[in-house]
Amino acid sequence: MQAETSAAVRKLDQDVERVLIDEASLKRRLAELGAAITTAYAGKDLLLIAVLKGSVLFLADLIRCIPIPHEIDFMATSSYGAGVQSSGVVRILKDLNKPIEGRHVLLVEDIIDSGHTLAYLSGLLAARNPASLQIVTLLDKPDRREVAIDVAWTGFSIPNEFVIGYGLDYDECYRNLPYIGILKPEVYSLSETGEPAE
Ligand code: IMP
Ligand code: MG
Repeated sequence: MQAETSAAVRKLDQDVERVLIDEASLKRRLAELGAAITTAYAGKDLLLIAVLKGSVLFLADLIRCIPIPHEIDFMATSSYGAGVQSSGVVRILKDLNKPIEGRHVLLVEDIIDSGHTLAYLSGLLAARNPASLQIVTLLDKPDRREVAIDVAWTGFSIPNEFVIGYGLDYDECYRNLPYIGILKPEVYSLSETGEPAE
């Protein structure tokens, strides 16, 4: 009985074609990013703004590598939903809790793909008159860019493949994988409708 139950448990690892960035590499790179950010913002009123939900794991580990006073806040935008293609449409689902005027803002993203999300968000935040506005992204897919984005710090530039894990999802799943992996194409080709998902 017990054996039957555990055999039926679906392990997320089974859907991963290969690991692109392992845990040790993530840890090493975050320490480097944290050190660079610490130097850049020493003595400044720093506010990190993470874009939900994908950036949550990155933010949580990154701020432990930034040993200077700072605050965090969150925004949420519409995402791809169940699809893997950008719709190019950005919608604010959750705004910041406080004004950012006069503060040094660092926008924390999980991945830049087409660039539409960040282009929209940086425009919106810049209009609120922060003292400065910069971007740190864990991952960048430069081949996919449709809008130019000025990124201060990038964790890893990656090829044009759909990745999951370490916060990144496919259809809200796989965020808890401790590494960045490439999803087996059959996992999403089965459910892909071809419609631009939200
Ligand atoms: P952009 O507006 O096309 O730059 O899309 C950025 C957002 O799309 C990211 O914040 C992610 O939420 C999502 N995204 C883009 N590429 C991937 C991927 O390979 N895996 C998971 N989510 C992705
Ligand atoms: Mg995101």
